[in-house]
Amino acid sequence: MLSRRNMLAVGALTLGGAVGTKGLLFNDRAAYSSARGFYPHVHGVQPARVGAALTVAPFSMQMPVPPVLKPMVSTNDVDVYRLDIRPADIEILPGVRTPVYTYGGQFVGPTIRARTGRRVMIRYKNALDRPANVHLHGGHVEADHDGHPMDVIQTGQSRWYNYPNRQQGATLWYHDHSHHTEAENVYRGLHGFYLIDDDSEKSLRLPGGAYDIPIIIRDALFDADGKMVFGGNPAERNVILANGKPQPYFPVAARKYRLRLLNGATERTFNLNLGGAEMTQIASDGGLLPAPVPRTEIRLSSAERVEVVVDFSRYPVGTQVVLSDGTTPVLRFDVVRRAVDFSRVPDQLRALPVLPAATVTRNIRLSFDISGFPPVGLVDGKTYDPARADQQIKLGATEIWNITNGDGQFGFHHNFHMHLVQFQVLDRDGQPPSLDDAGRKDTVPVPPGTSVRVKATFADYIGRYVYHCHFLEHSSLGMMAQMEIAP
Ligand code: C2O
Ligand code: CU
Ligand code: CU
Repeated sequence: MLSRRNMLAVGALTLGGAVGTKGLLFNDRAAYSSARGFYPHVHGVQPARVGAALTVAPFSMQMPVPPVLKPMVSTNDVDVYRLDIRPADIEILPGVRTPVYTYGGQFVGPTIRARTGRRVMIRYKNALDRPANVHLHGGHVEADHDGHPMDVIQTGQSRWYNYPNRQQGATLWYHDHSHHTEAENVYRGLHGFYLIDDDSEKSLRLPGGAYDIPIIIRDALFDADGKMVFGGNPAERNVILANGKPQPYFPVAARKYRLRLLNGATERTFNLNLGGAEMTQIASDGGLLPAPVPRTEIRLSSAERVEVVVDFSRYPVGTQVVLSDGTTPVLRFDVVRRAVDFSRVPDQLRALPVLPAATVTRNIRLSFDISGFPPVGLVDGKTYDPARADQQIKLGATEIWNITNGDGQFGFHHNFHMHLVQFQVLDRDGQPPSLDDAGRKDTVPVPPGTSVRVKATFADYIGRYVYHCHFLEHSSLGMMAQMEIAP
């Protein structure tokens, strides 16, 4: 169990701001209280009442790297995998077993490493006592394999997912998307990385192999028994986990690393920084940027990804470099040895696709109806109805979507995610997009009182795909809609 000293350290950490509003942009916390103590809980789960919340002193555990899943079978053009969706008791905090839901028995599911142009097939068996499914976030896949909210795997059943990987290299992730329960299921552990490697990017000689590290950053709240608390105010989740460990340390060599950062929190925005030191951004949600961009602070809302190269050779061996969310530590890199490094970050990476002129413009509005309890999530004034197609899209069309946060200047923070496509951000309230909006995106923040315009081409696949706020507590409450793509 946690020692008393750790518990005390916990208190200090908590007061020090881990629970504070620092990490939550746009004052989510104030928004919650202004909404009369509204907690977005679903299905009668009561708001959390946690007497003594567990956490630990920072940097007491080492950050693991989720192992890469081995295919059962590999042929010329397909890799076949198998994963169970099942409960497990995992040591997240030292000396405490926490019951979680997992892909493959691991709290951060195994990493699937796919390759552009090479098919992946995965058979998932659901051994949970509740329905679950799998959505490949950022994937360009057939509607039948997209993990539609109504297309779930019942307890004891299995299902194949088929991913063609006809898209460029990118940091994708897989997570549950079951109707009304995606927030809880993802919170309890149904998340993992799906990385697409792209042979055409090999000549860039970016850091690879052991120097290419995916890191999922998320938060959680643990009760005194070490159980994860879901259903309360997300702003009270006071433990930050990197690859499933609380504020861990990670030994690195004094050389360049490619870090793939994913915000896997269900409802949170991180403000990531190395205390002012430079990170070189090379990619966003859907793959490489046209050229590297020096960054000192990166805003990442739920489900967004960013890839940065950090050159630890600028630090002497023995240096500790902390990645923080605002001022709250997330992860400490310990520079432990020297290394030779033949990797580089070239001046040119990968040009963005030039999208055709748009033929359709749509307005999308995200909001809450807080007149009742629980509140109801709305897109264009309507809560999600799987039987309704909210937008009809012609296959191959290029469109502009103007997404507005309809909760007003002092309302809730939302973000926006569209399945199937990678879009490009055109502008925000008529102003040029921010550095955080660069590249091929599938998820963007939509702060209170603002709008963002994005442009996408709906190619290759027909059928129904959802779009929603990716603060999953909001989508679970109905802030989701669907588009029907037809010839
Ligand atoms: Cu990350 Cu609708 O999904
Ligand atoms: Cu998605
Ligand atoms: Cu939202």
